[in-house]
Amino acid sequence: MARLTVLIAAVILAFLVAMPLPEVTAKKYTVGDNKFWNPNINYTIWAQGKHFYLGDWLYFVFDRNQHNILEVNKTDYENCNSDHPLVNWTRGAGRDVVPLNVTKHYYLLDGKGGCYGGMKLAVKVEKLPPPPKAAPVKNIGSVSVVTGLAQFMIPFALLRMW
Ligand SMILES: *[C@@H]1O[C@H](CO)[C@@H](O)[C@H](O)[C@H]1NC(C)=O
Ligand SMILES: *[C@@H]1O[C@H](CO)[C@@H](O)[C@H](O)[C@H]1NC(C)=O
Ligand SMILES: *[C@@H]1O[C@H](CO)[C@@H](O)[C@H](O)[C@H]1NC(C)=O
Ligand SMILES: *[C@@H]1O[C@H](CO)[C@@H](O)[C@H](O)[C@H]1NC(C)=O
Repeated sequence: MARLTVLIAAVILAFLVAMPLPEVTAKKYTVGDNKFWNPNINYTIWAQGKHFYLGDWLYFVFDRNQHNILEVNKTDYENCNSDHPLVNWTRGAGRDVVPLNVTKHYYLLDGKGGCYGGMKLAVKVEKLPPPPKAAPVKNIGSVSVVTGLAQFMIPFALLRMW
């Protein structure tokens, strides 16, 4: 009976181990982290080393009376020119979300003060990386469970032959 319990546990474990990993979920980035969307933060440095993937979100938190969030083209981004925004992402509450749903460069800036205090952010949105290949560890795990099962089963078979 104890062996049967172990066996069942082993079978359940084998299924669990063999289950695919859940999909990588979209990430919501709070721009500037705990400093939010404010002057005198270098957002180029903030974005450094981060990977933005299709389906991720940028979340901007700021003083709605002082700032806004506009998407512009590259030239206007470089010149901090907010005269012809491509998209006005400002909704009025000082809490705005930019869905990164296109693989392209997004050029965003504070339009109220023309990149006031360096408030501009460029991110490159990449396609989702292919899901990681089934980790070899998983297969080794399953194989060893199967081997373990065989080791349990063979004595049983022998016992019955007797
Ligand atoms: C922000 O940092 C980047 C990378 O170090 C640098 O090239 C850029 O000049 C900085 N921007 C400001 C406004 O200091
Ligand atoms: C950005 O827009 C401005 C004004 O509409 C235009 O003069 C400029 O050529 C555009 N730049 C790019 C890279 O599209
Ligand atoms: C952006 O949209 C907000 C909310 O509709 C509006 O109050 C604001 O004037 C707009 N800003 C620009 C620069 O278009
Ligand atoms: C991306 O999201 C914006 C805002 O929700 C929407 O207007 C636009 O149609 C979307 N683009 C694509 C390609 O899904």
